[in-house]
Amino acid sequence: MGSVLAVANQKGGVGKTTTAVNLGASIAGAGYPTLLVDLDPQCNATVALGLQKDISPNVYECLSGELTLAATAIPSGIEHLHIVPSTPELAGATVELPRIAGSEGILRERLGAVKERYLFTLLDCPPSLGPLTVNALVAADKVIVPVQTEYFALEGLAQLLDTLSLIQRELNPRLTIAGMILTMYDGRTRLAREVEREVREHFPELVFDTVVPRNVRLGEAPSFGVPVIQHAPQSAGSAAYLKLAKEVAARG
Ligand SMILES: Nc1ncnc2c1ncn2[C@@H]1O[C@H](COP(=O)(O)OP(=O)(O)O)[C@@H](O)[C@H]1O
Ligand SMILES: [Mg+2]
Repeated sequence: MGSVLAVANQKGGVGKTTTAVNLGASIAGAGYPTLLVDLDPQCNATVALGLQKDISPNVYECLSGELTLAATAIPSGIEHLHIVPSTPELAGATVELPRIAGSEGILRERLGAVKERYLFTLLDCPPSLGPLTVNALVAADKVIVPVQTEYFALEGLAQLLDTLSLIQRELNPRLTIAGMILTMYDGRTRLAREVEREVREHFPELVFDTVVPRNVRLGEAPSFGVPVIQHAPQSAGSAAYLKLAKEVAARG
């Protein structure tokens, strides 16, 4: 049985999509059948894999219609990696979902054969704790939290952890934290080293050993529509996500 991992943090720009896309591609590169689900109406993960924003089937059709998530998955162009693309229409789900009783569990109900088909399913969440992220956290077995290695890193994490506890209590007792991944680390600055120390001190056991450096190749890969392991396989960014993939796979 595969695991479903939500990549979540209500802050924008912390590296959720970069992590979902490149971790997904790295796990797939090791030969594991992997699914990336774009749950953000901004469609960044969809575009980062070279797809258009308005193709069908898409994740909105799964949430609002009859299709299961497994039935909505299409090949991504990367071997062993499938994707459920997003569409700007998904923004409507933020308004529509709360009108439906029990809407927190819709994605979970619609997983279909996802866990039979894919060893790893990554859910790229939007930058909020709204209905789409809640659906992801209810459908997930684990959550990966990207934490940008900057001054305000810890700000917002308490709120996120409160939300995770609430969801564990009320909606998804199986949910655990796979780990926090430090992103955009600039080793030349003392600030980055201090933030890393602080986060590891606050959350011993929870922080992945891997640290993702700030890396130009990682930032530019989406404009080529491919993950960094294809765009710049020798880059530090590529090495970091391959290392993270090993950690995630080892933790199951
Ligand atoms: N390690 C990194 N090095 C350089 N640029 C990065 C790195 N991680 C993310 N970025 C860039 O930072 C921006 C925000 O990252 P993104 O993954 O889209 O964050 P989120 O999905 O949390 O909003 C994007 O332009 C992305 O390309
Ligand atoms: Mg994103």
